[in-house]
Formats: sequence, C-alpha cells, structure tokens
Amino acid sequence: MAEATLDLRHEPKHRAYPQLHAQLIGILTDIHDEITVMSTICAVTHHAFGHLWTGFYRVVAPGLLRVGPYQGTLGCLEIAFGRGVCGTAAAERRRIVVPDVRRFPGHITCDARSRSEIVIPVSDASGGLIGVFDVDSARLAAFDEEDANGLEQIVRWFFTNDRG
Ligand code: SME
Repeated sequence: MAEATLDLRHEPKHRAYPQLHAQLIGILTDIHDEITVMSTICAVTHHAFGHLWTGFYRVVAPGLLRVGPYQGTLGCLEIAFGRGVCGTAAAERRRIVVPDVRRFPGHITCDARSRSEIVIPVSDASGGLIGVFDVDSARLAAFDEEDANGLEQIVRWFFTNDRG
C-alpha cells in the first residue's frame, strides 16, 4: 500500500496524474464507500499539488449541490444548478476550466485568494450525476485540458466502478 506523502508540485502533468491515480488506487483497494473515496481523493490531491481548495459538491436534491468532503478554507455550503462554476458544470454536465475566475460571470467566491478553477462532473455507474469535483488555485491559469483529463480519469475510475 503506497502511503507516503505524495509531492507532485514539480512533476510535469503527464507524469503527475498517473502517479496520483496509482497512489489512490493503492490506498483505496477494496474501499467503495463514496464518502471515504471522496475524502481520500481530496486529501491526497490537495496536498500533492498544494492547491488552494479541493473538494466535492454532491447532488442532494434535484437541482441542488451541497458541499461534501473537502480540503481548504470554509466552502460555500449549497449551490443551485446553474449558479457559479460548480452549478454550471452540474447543470450542463460538462467539465469547466476557468483560467481567471474574475472573467467567469457568476463565479462564487469562497476564498478571495482563488484565481483559477477547474470543475469535473462526477457520475455513478448508471450514468447519474452524483456531484462535481472542484479544485481552486491561488495561481492564474493553473489548470488546462491535461488537468481535466487527469482528474476526469480518476473520478471515472472510482465512481463508475470502472476499476478494471
Ligand atoms: N467557486 C465555486 C464555488 C465553490 S468554491 O470555490 C469552494 C463556483 O463558482 O462554483
């Protein structure tokens, strides 16, 4: 079981995400509890990259996201579908990369230090939306399609039971 603290801050992304994924697979062998999986993905991802905020918003009622496991300062508790980056990603079921949060109309500011953000929709094995995975950075343009692909692959692996 790979439990050492992972530091991916100086790795190129094409090497970082496979390492992150492998570490999580090692830690979460035989663990299927949704909250445990979300908490572990947050903790490892957050500290490996030194992000500002890393967490899940879960679909708790039709059209409503509520904050789930996360790392970082206090997250906003509820977000309606269609609001902010998270609510837009949930409503449109698409991943969103925001290089500069000041340029995203309706962006919800939870931590004033946030400069860029990425949100990945999370679906279960039957294709139903169970939430979104949201990562914020204090750096401008911290995320791109490579991050979207890396993070999407990880959440797909764990939540669609696509564990090979
Ligand atoms: N910025 C997000 C809200 C969540 S926090 O950043 C933790 C948004 O606009 O949806």
